Amino acid sequence: MNSEVIWPSLTAIIVLGLTSLLKQGFDIAFGNESDRLALLSFKAMNTCSVIRNRKLMYLDLSSSNLTGSIPASLGNLSSLDTLILRYNNLEGSIPQDLGQLEQMRKVLLEVNTLPGTIPSSIYNLSTLLFLGQAANQLQDSLPPDLGITLLRLRLLAVGGNSFTCHLPSTVVNASLLSWLDITKNKFTGQLPNNRGSLSYLIQVRVGNKNLESNDLSFPTSLTNCTILQVLVIGHNHFRGYLPESISNLFNKVNILSLRHNEIRGFIPSGISNLASLVNFDSGNNLLSGHIPSTIGMLQDLQLLNLESNKLLGPIPSSLGNLSNLYSIYLYNNHLSGSIPSSIGDIQSLQILNLQ
Ligand SMILES: *[C@@H]1O[C@H](CO)[C@@H](O)[C@H](O)[C@H]1NC(C)=O
Ligand SMILES: *[C@@H]1O[C@H](CO)[C@@H](O)[C@H](O)[C@H]1NC(C)=O
Ligand SMILES: *[C@@H]1O[C@H](CO)[C@@H](O)[C@H](O)[C@H]1NC(C)=O
Ligand SMILES: *[C@@H]1O[C@H](CO)[C@@H](O)[C@H](O)[C@H]1NC(C)=O
Ligand SMILES: *[C@@H]1O[C@H](CO)[C@@H](O)[C@H](O)[C@H]1NC(C)=O
Ligand SMILES: *[C@@H]1O[C@H](CO)[C@@H](O)[C@H](O)[C@H]1NC(C)=O
Ligand SMILES: *[C@@H]1O[C@H](CO)[C@@H](O)[C@H](O)[C@H]1NC(C)=O
Repeated sequence: MNSEVIWPSLTAIIVLGLTSLLKQGFDIAFGNESDRLALLSFKAMNTCSVIRNRKLMYLDLSSSNLTGSIPASLGNLSSLDTLILRYNNLEGSIPQDLGQLEQMRKVLLEVNTLPGTIPSSIYNLSTLLFLGQAANQLQDSLPPDLGITLLRLRLLAVGGNSFTCHLPSTVVNASLLSWLDITKNKFTGQLPNNRGSLSYLIQVRVGNKNLESNDLSFPTSLTNCTILQVLVIGHNHFRGYLPESISNLFNKVNILSLRHNEIRGFIPSGISNLASLVNFDSGNNLLSGHIPSTIGMLQDLQLLNLESNKLLGPIPSSLGNLSNLYSIYLYNNHLSGSIPSSIGDIQSLQILNLQ
């Protein structure tokens, strides 16, 4: 594969776009004539591209049916600070040359079929804020000093690849991190606990098959992340007891997924403090005790999944208060009593799975 593969389908557009751009007198930083043509075609193709200061700084070619490899020559666009090539069919390895771009702030390459590794030079870009490589075919491990070299990182999204080894403990040093997605990889071992440095987290998705922990110290270490909205730790081997304190933790959380772990203990009645909860999924764990009736105070709740636990007692009639609820999964527990008629009155309910 080489860089030429991408461009043939764009030739017609190059011809159309070129003259008008040249008339406007853009002075684009480029390597050679073919790079120049390719870049002009980028501009012509995509209305999102913005050329500022007479240099190409921002290149967004999301969803543009691009095939082939990412051209190494992009590494010569010395002013580039944003490269977005999401939702294409790009394959071939990510060029090492991108690591030369010292102004680079955002590299977003999600949903392609990029193989191999993220070039080590990219981990060296201290200016980097966003590193999005989710849903590719990368087989890599993150460097141990990740959070120190990429100290300003705000987004680390590598979900849906084949990353192995540990999530580096230095990730907590990237204190501006707000989005962490490492789901659906082959990460192993324990996740590093936050020691108070990460306070801007908004989304945390860490479901992997082989992450393990004998306690829930990772999620509880996110206590002071007061703007956290999404916490998905499902499909790991997290053992231990759901802490009572969970109800004081995440008062902005919309999505809380603990599913498919080995979590024990009671659902605290203080769960009603999680007033923004929309999806609560704790299916396939070892939770016991009663379902607290205070769940009926979570007015925004749409999904309640407690299937395959060891829950006892009645189904609280207060669930009938939840007018936005569309799915309730409670089967495979030890629940008793009848199904409260109030549940039948929920207009929005589409899926009710109790047996
Ligand atoms: C991408 O290809 C599909 C199917 O060939 C087509 O419908 C779509 O318009 C193309 N999109 C762009 C941005 O060229
Ligand atoms: C980048 O530019 C240099 C100097 O113009 C040139 O020698 C090199 O081949 C270019 N690299 C690529 C990958 O085009
Ligand atoms: C421009 O640079 C690319 C490498 O990026 C090279 O493959 C190509 O042959 C060069 N074109 C010319 C006309 O020098
Ligand atoms: C990363 O940066 C260091 C220091 O600037 C340099 O010595 C090293 O060669 C760089 N590594 C890569 C892979 O670019
Ligand atoms: C990284 O964070 C840890 C835990 O907060 C801290 O002990 C360590 O000194 C930090 N390292 C650097 C290089 O800032
Ligand atoms: C949360 O903040 C409080 C007050 O600053 C502090 O005492 C506590 O240790 C912090 N908890 C965590 C898990 O960082
Ligand atoms: C919730 O439901 C219970 C039992 O159905 C009822 O007694 C209570 O008044 C309801 N609370 C609210 C806030 O609607």
